[in-house]
Amino acid sequence: MTLLALNNIEIVYDQVFLAVRGVSIEVPENGLVAVLGANGAGKSTVLKSISGLLKPERGAVTRGEISFEGRSILAVDPPDRVRLGIVHVLEGRRVFGHLTPKENLIAAATMHRERGHVTALIDRMFETFPRLAERAKAEAGYLSGGEQQMLAIARALMTEPRLLMLDEPSLGLAPFLVDEIFDIIRRVNERDGVAVLLVEQNATAALEIAQYGYLIENGRILMSGEAAVLSANPDVADAYLGGHQKVDYHAVKHYRRRKRWLA
Ligand SMILES: Nc1ncnc2c1ncn2[C@@H]1O[C@H](COP(=O)(O)OP(=O)(O)OP(=O)(O)O)[C@@H](O)[C@H]1O
Ligand SMILES: [Mg+2]
Repeated sequence: MTLLALNNIEIVYDQVFLAVRGVSIEVPENGLVAVLGANGAGKSTVLKSISGLLKPERGAVTRGEISFEGRSILAVDPPDRVRLGIVHVLEGRRVFGHLTPKENLIAAATMHRERGHVTALIDRMFETFPRLAERAKAEAGYLSGGEQQMLAIARALMTEPRLLMLDEPSLGLAPFLVDEIFDIIRRVNERDGVAVLLVEQNATAALEIAQYGYLIENGRILMSGEAAVLSANPDVADAYLGGHQKVDYHAVKHYRRRKRWLA
């Protein structure tokens, strides 16, 4: 079953700047889907259209449809989208720096008044993210970048979402931390059945855990397919998987031709 469907959406900023056009994306129930693309491609804009955060940035969905569990959500305001089960971890790991990890988690749980349930959820987060348990009493502002990213994800999970959207969780992290965080994302997806929409520039790491991927460039979907098929595609390897370090310069002309065809 399809959980989230973007159908041919167009997104405009300031009523004039067309940032996203004709984008269609599907996330199946329990799926793990990656959206890959370079700086400025429109990845964060797409996530904001799903969580409803375009308005404060003077952006709007001007065409197309976004539906969650078969119902249009375009008219639903952001807090109600969270109640429906959509949660968005913004780019740049925003946590309350002067609160401890535990206080950050409590602050994220306002939807659940029942104390026992909140406590159980917090225990579950500390079990899922053991590094946070170790730093439970430190102010979040003093956590490392990776730990802050984990806390940002744990805060989002406190809402018990059906769909977890992550905007570049690997940004600026050492490779071993990226592995650790991506393992946890996979576990949350498999163990708890939370569907994941993962935006990344780190295509290698993202395609390792995703089942399906979309490549976005200049606000349009360039290509989509099973993660394994995308990883094996030479154009994807060249442009997104760091394959350019191994460019055979005799083949460059051919490569350019292929790129032109893709555009
Ligand atoms: N609030 C805004 N007002 C006007 N234009 C914006 C706004 N936010 C983004 N844009 C523009 O929309 C386009 C897509 O931006 P977006 O942030 O979605 O890209 P991105 O793929 O997330 O890039 P990055 O990898 O750098 O985060 C860019 O051209 C950007 O300049
Ligand atoms: Mg972005």
